[in-house]
Amino acid sequence: MGVRIGLISDIHVDLNRIKGEEVVTGLLARESMRRGLDILLVAGDISSDYVLTLKTISALEAESGARVLFVPGNHDIWNENYPGRKAWESYNALLEHPANLAPGPVSLGAGWTVVGDLGWYDFAYGDTSFSQAEFQKMKHGGRTWQDKIKSIWDRPTLDMHRLFMDRLEARLAEATTNFVSAAADAMKDTGRTTGTGANATDQKIVFVTHVVQIREFSVQNPGPQWKYFNAFLGSPDYGELAQRYGAKLAVCGHVHYRRRLRKAGTEFVCPCLGYTTEWPAPADPEKQIAETLQVFELGSLEARVV
Ligand SMILES: [Fe+2]
Ligand SMILES: [Fe+2]
Repeated sequence: MGVRIGLISDIHVDLNRIKGEEVVTGLLARESMRRGLDILLVAGDISSDYVLTLKTISALEAESGARVLFVPGNHDIWNENYPGRKAWESYNALLEHPANLAPGPVSLGAGWTVVGDLGWYDFAYGDTSFSQAEFQKMKHGGRTWQDKIKSIWDRPTLDMHRLFMDRLEARLAEATTNFVSAAADAMKDTGRTTGTGANATDQKIVFVTHVVQIREFSVQNPGPQWKYFNAFLGSPDYGELAQRYGAKLAVCGHVHYRRRLRKAGTEFVCPCLGYTTEWPAPADPEKQIAETLQVFELGSLEARVV
């Protein structure tokens, strides 16, 4: 029996209100139940307030009938409700939730392990007509990329990307080489691999970032604005990392697309619910959630679309 995993991202529960009501959490829990999910994985941008994000994850755990896992998105660490708050403070508060994938690999059963974190960007998807100095301003045509104001890290953008790359690579190495059956008992309690032992196994990997892992998921044929703002969507380094470690499923969000693309042995999935304003009118959250949630059966060899 495979493990049934549902993938979704960018649910933005605080922004996606219908007549002032927060409806997304309840509808997503119901859809997860209807699809018989064992695991519901949310690839970030749950809300723009880390407290609400934590509450939402707990509500999904209580109501969906599935094990819930998530990575933070850039919105989840924004400080617009907490003036002066640093990005690390919210990022670290989110780490306290056991459903957060960032602390380390998590076993999904059936020989599958998931590795994930927020990720950041390195300007690589931006148009080459702009200089690095221009990208570092994060401002173009009168518009400022909001992470500039609302995600205040303690180091430059490129260093944040490098930090997430290093962490993700360490966890992929842990998941693919240090996973031993002797650790299975410990995992039954926590679901986390212990890092003990050194026997290589053929763990099948699900790799998750909030940011965009492949150029194909950046804005294609961009107009003058997106030629610049594509720079802040992610980095092809994440997709290359997923492929280097043989990830069978690679999940991202952030760009508010709903796409799937197979490259070599890796199925890249971008399952974004996006904003009500991006949906066809009149807004039908139930339909949008049902269409967005991508369900895979994690089998003994492959992930199969359900
Ligand atoms: Fe988003
Ligand atoms: Fe995002």
